[in-house]
Amino acid sequence: VKPLLNTKREHLVTFFKQSQSRLGYDYKKIKSNIEFASYKKNYKSFSIISANNGEGATTTCLHLAMTFAKDGKKVLLIDGNLQKPILNKLFLIENDYGLSNVLIGQKKFADVLNMTEFADMKLITAGQGNNHFKNLFNSSAMENLLEEAKQSFDYIFIDNSAIFDGETGKIIASKTDGTVFVVRNKKTEVKQMIEAKKVLKTYDVNLLGVILNDKNPSLSKKLVGR
Ligand SMILES: Nc1ncnc2c1ncn2[C@@H]1O[C@H](COP(=O)(O)OP(=O)(O)O)[C@@H](O)[C@H]1O
Ligand SMILES: [Mg+2]
Repeated sequence: VKPLLNTKREHLVTFFKQSQSRLGYDYKKIKSNIEFASYKKNYKSFSIISANNGEGATTTCLHLAMTFAKDGKKVLLIDGNLQKPILNKLFLIENDYGLSNVLIGQKKFADVLNMTEFADMKLITAGQGNNHFKNLFNSSAMENLLEEAKQSFDYIFIDNSAIFDGETGKIIASKTDGTVFVVRNKKTEVKQMIEAKKVLKTYDVNLLGVILNDKNPSLSKKLVGR
């Protein structure tokens, strides 16, 4: 494990254990909004997406999943970033089989479910690469997987690849009940936000809301050690 990954792992472990923190408070607010959509419209599957890489989709997805798991909800986290999987590395879980293997019919949902070190949180890694995902996502495999997951989980969070980085992120997002769009302070340009929103609409993504990430960089420096 690279030193940077170790730092991120440590941060996640601390975040999970901590009962009170400024960061935890911010995520709890987002949790309430998601719970409202969940309660009102019976939404269970959520995808987290950003316009470009490096804007905080993965970070947001992880913290949200953990915030729900901390509250005793049964959470399934899915690494939907098939090109650049990362969750397996953070959780020290092998990525031999995962989402992509279920999508091509090679593995069943139950075969790819991993326990994590965090109570109430399970993980499906991205799985091994395959270049034909675009067609796959136009099949019903993703919907079937989500339907099955809904039987045993309260909330499903998918970490997606960026809107402007290939097709799969947007397609996966369109298969979930709702999508949260993450923009990063001082990084995501307004022009791109507007364009990204249009793209999500084209892909028939149900946009629930926008999260402003890294609003207070001095605070995040303290918390994440950036
Ligand atoms: N609010 C934040 N404070 C500090 N570091 C952050 C914050 N959000 C993201 N990062 C860091 O920035 C990098 C990119 O974030 P990441 O969540 O992986 O973005 P994406 O999934 O959109 O590519 C990572 O190293 C992550 O730890
Ligand atoms: Mg990411």
